[in-house]
Amino acid sequence: MQRIDGRACFEGEFELPGDKSVTHRAIMLNGGADGEAVITNALMGEDCLSTCSCMRSLGAKIDVDGTTLRVSGTPHFRRGRELNCGNSGTTIRLLTGYVAGKKIDAMLYGDESLSSRPMKRVAEPLALLGANVKTTDGHAPVYVSPSPLQGADVELKIASAQVKSAVLLAGISANGETRVTEPVKSRDHTERMLAAMGANIQVDGNSVIVKESALKAIDVCVPSDVSSAAYFMALGALKGETLCKNVGINPTRTGILTAFDRLGVKYSLLNRRISGGEETADILVQKSNMRAITLSSEDVPSMIDELPLVALLCAFADGETRITGAKELRVKESDRIRTTTELINNLGGDCEETPDGFIIRGKEKLIGGNVDSYLDHRIAMTGAVGLIASENGGNIYRPECCAISFPDFFEKIGVKLY
Ligand code: S3P
Repeated sequence: MQRIDGRACFEGEFELPGDKSVTHRAIMLNGGADGEAVITNALMGEDCLSTCSCMRSLGAKIDVDGTTLRVSGTPHFRRGRELNCGNSGTTIRLLTGYVAGKKIDAMLYGDESLSSRPMKRVAEPLALLGANVKTTDGHAPVYVSPSPLQGADVELKIASAQVKSAVLLAGISANGETRVTEPVKSRDHTERMLAAMGANIQVDGNSVIVKESALKAIDVCVPSDVSSAAYFMALGALKGETLCKNVGINPTRTGILTAFDRLGVKYSLLNRRISGGEETADILVQKSNMRAITLSSEDVPSMIDELPLVALLCAFADGETRITGAKELRVKESDRIRTTTELINNLGGDCEETPDGFIIRGKEKLIGGNVDSYLDHRIAMTGAVGLIASENGGNIYRPECCAISFPDFFEKIGVKLY
């Protein structure tokens, strides 16, 4: 348990850790590619360490020096491995597709939270390509057996970068063409990286088409993670002025800026540049009076991981916010519709849970109170922001799980964990 006090002001300049999604893909794709690659500004959070350990088990060599990784890839994975994916949905889902294309058997498993998350969503589309993927009642452990793959046309019912990526990583080993189509475009880091590694890939609206391809290792300079920057951007909006440096602003990831536009948050993108195939910028956010917003299913994918934080901001916005089309939040590291609602109400806010989102009646001030992380890193960090922004602060239980995506979060935010 950790006490966090409310603060009258929060400001400063922040360097954030590397992007989690890009780091996972840089390790995984290079780990299965031909050649050697250097990854700089890699995120060394627990989820990415899970990807490292799985790729090592499959035969890749990975040397770590701070946030620089040297990966020596192997296109031929070792057989019969038991791959511990820890808490990481990205690791288990992407690797299931990648391994299915390698004609080997493997077992993929994870911790209690990961074991409760749905895996049929990858097993079913992979089966359309002929993959032999068995789940345990729709969950992990997931068992992959060797099977030749044939390209297929896959229509996803949900927008999910993890599922799309699993299909693409299997598709590069399938005979013929694989097309995967999403209802709304999700983050496109896999497509970008596959193209940079020489894959035969094309993007056509919400569809991505791949053909059988061999991957060549490439160096990756990982931008800072907009999902980690978001906590500092939110504190800027609530309590002062913050500058987050060198943040990835890939348009499939910047839904937080769409939310800022609607809320009336003042921000600017400075020093825009291209780094490692992804656009980055320094994001300056200023204290702002916010008004209630509406968000619906088309808005959700680009802010999927920021929605708990966006909901918290809405608890400070004038009027009634309605967020719909966000049912996916129920199958994240926690049921984030339930845990976010409890968090906001425990801080003294007024949030109502709906089957696929929230109704939030904003207040000028939240009094503070005691909150729990529910062992979900994003809820821990949203809770810390809520306590700092509140009048009296309070306690947060089990905050250490922020190490999944942001190991030194509390140090950066100025809270010493005991
Ligand atoms: C991720 C995709 C998202 C996101 C997760 C990371 C990725 O999940 O919530 O934190 O790196 O592909 P879904 O694709 O299942 O929505």
